[in-house]
Amino acid sequence: MSGSIDLVKKGRVAYLLLNNPEKKNAISAEMWEQLALMAEKISADDDIRTTVLRGKGTSAFTAGADISQFESRRSPTDRGSTYDELTESAIAAVKAIPVPVIALIHGYCLGGGVSLALACDLRFASRASSFAIPAARLSISYPTPAIERLVELIGPSSAKYLLFSAKRIDADLAKEIHLVDKVFNPEDLDEEVDAFVAALIDNAPLSLRAAKFIVDQCSVDQDKRDIEKVYDLARSCFESEDYKEAVRAFMASERPIFHGR
Ligand code: COA
Repeated sequence: MSGSIDLVKKGRVAYLLLNNPEKKNAISAEMWEQLALMAEKISADDDIRTTVLRGKGTSAFTAGADISQFESRRSPTDRGSTYDELTESAIAAVKAIPVPVIALIHGYCLGGGVSLALACDLRFASRASSFAIPAARLSISYPTPAIERLVELIGPSSAKYLLFSAKRIDADLAKEIHLVDKVFNPEDLDEEVDAFVAALIDNAPLSLRAAKFIVDQCSVDQDKRDIEKVYDLARSCFESEDYKEAVRAFMASERPIFHGR
């Protein structure tokens, strides 16, 4: 089998590793399947407060789908649909993780890698990273859900620039068009992500879960929104022990300790 997805839990943080460094962490069909399973595992673990997704090493987040499998797995007979279902169900599982997911991006972030990074809540990138959607070099159509996420985040003009040109852009331009949120020097990136994650896990877990769900609902059609869950999540914050603890700690000039209930 080519490559693997490794899940490591450190304290309350889940680290998902795209592990295929000989191929610039290209994602094989087996890895897409594993990714869906690992993401579901994270979603089911109430202890986890944040997830970090990265590639092994620093030369690539991922160079996208494993092209060497296209002949056998992405054949003209199924017009790519089965393969795209596989990638999209993995990406949907990552998107469904209820806690913040940070993409930590060193090196190349290409094709399906961009789509995967877009499924994360935030993208922190190395100044040495680069981004491209080379679908037009492979004569494939980038999956429609991936294009929707791209347009939502960077707008139609920048999306068309990336899709039409298939050109690689650097991290500074990626930041300018809002494809990434933060750019750091390569040697600082891991530490910056660690510091950000440490800050998140000290915050109230119910607030983070509510914020993630409610922000994501804003891009769902009005008539399809889960309004009941939106209000349930907001109510669960105000009715929580953590809310009482926050008020108590504030009045006592102490740091609150949150338990997510
Ligand atoms: N699928 C399968 N294998 C890949 C891959 C991919 N997406 N991306 C890189 N690899 C493999 C290369 O074939 C090479 O294998 P080899 O050592 O057996 O020859 C190895 O990874 C290293 O890549 P190489 O091209 O030698 O490194 P580089 O630094 O010169 O270039 C890239 C790196 C990522 C720019 C280049 O490999 C590339 O353009 N990859 C394809 C990216 C792409 O089109 N992705 C979209 C997929 S939908």
